[in-house]
Amino acid sequence: MSEPYFQQLFADRIGGPGYGQGTEIYKFEKIKRAKRRALAEHPGRPLLDFGIGENDEMAPASVRRVMADEIGRPENRGYADNGIASFKEQAARLMRREFGVELDPAREINHCMGSKTALAMLPAAFINAGDVTLMTVPGYPVAGTHTAYYGGVVHRLPLRAENGFLPDLGAIPADVLRRAKLLVLNYPNSPTGAVATPEFYARVVEFARRNRLVVIQDAAHVMLTQQGRPLSFLEVPGAREVGVEVHSLSKGWNMIGWRMGWVCGQERIVRAFADVKDNCDSGQFIAIQKAAAAALADPAIPRLTREKYSRRLKKLVATLRRVGFDCRMPGGTYFIYTPSPKGAAGGLRFDSAEAASQFLITEHSICTVPWDDAGAYLRLSATYEAADEAAEDALMAETERRLEPLGLEF
Ligand SMILES: Cc1ncc(COP(=O)(O)O)c(C=O)c1O
Repeated sequence: MSEPYFQQLFADRIGGPGYGQGTEIYKFEKIKRAKRRALAEHPGRPLLDFGIGENDEMAPASVRRVMADEIGRPENRGYADNGIASFKEQAARLMRREFGVELDPAREINHCMGSKTALAMLPAAFINAGDVTLMTVPGYPVAGTHTAYYGGVVHRLPLRAENGFLPDLGAIPADVLRRAKLLVLNYPNSPTGAVATPEFYARVVEFARRNRLVVIQDAAHVMLTQQGRPLSFLEVPGAREVGVEVHSLSKGWNMIGWRMGWVCGQERIVRAFADVKDNCDSGQFIAIQKAAAAALADPAIPRLTREKYSRRLKKLVATLRRVGFDCRMPGGTYFIYTPSPKGAAGGLRFDSAEAASQFLITEHSICTVPWDDAGAYLRLSATYEAADEAAEDALMAETERRLEPLGLEF
């Protein structure tokens, strides 16, 4: 194919004139291709898909009913701008009910079209060329991608088992700290499943004040807290002076595709976010905001979601342990993050989690997500499709039947 006339025009941030011509395949694309190949080569062998990071259920019927009513109301038809008051009021009620955090819905909360877009927009409020964003790895990379788009620099904070998958804030070089403006955290953490503690958050507040940083805490998985009660960064004294927390209805409410969440916390930062957002989109469809408000008003929804994934995670942990994985229940999320096998019976060696993951999918139709950022780990998700508990148990039995003979070595 000849080069399009505009090939030289692509901006450096997406690869410049070389855009679209590279041969590098990204991790999730590799997994998709391997899945397709496994299905084509072994049509009779069902795929055991622990790779999906999306809830397997629809939003509750009660929420879909509100949506069905609201979609027909003419007053919901227009631009929603920075969001309707009733959604923000429900978000404020939820923050009080779940975390004991009092927020002014008009000034300290703003809706977003899923937390991804909020994480994409927040760097625009702070990052000039050369500024640093501190980000934990492995993790959700969106705030870092946008930091780089603005000419900023990402400094990676590795999450390691020996530190409970909390970043070592003391290990950041002084020259990096001087240029740092944002500290992006994510607890419960994806993919490690670690949860933060009030003590850690207190250290973060002190660290942010001392180094004049803004904290962005990504709480997308907070309602999937599996151990202890869900914890908001904003509960910790001083947190609301140093940052914001980003929440999402995707995971806890089975509303992945609805694209609703909210940013809350320090008033000036919320306002800066709303200003950036106002220049990027015109707000989520009001019918969706009203359905999302109804979802937030019902505490049973996130409770049932958590209970379901907790049950499935327990079964998955037990199954994996029986075939040699050293895994345990995560503090939160619907993921198990576990050291990747180094080899298998017959002298097979895996030099990375990616190699182990490719072996499992191509040879045994078992899909996992590899992480090699801070040690070699596999992520297995409990969001696989299974109609009922009997189907879950059958899937676990089949997983064990396929993994057991492999003689995985760790
Ligand atoms: C850690 C984390 N943050 C944010 C998101 C984005 O979620 P959403 O945009 O659906 O709210 C995800 C989605 O997978 C995630 O895992």
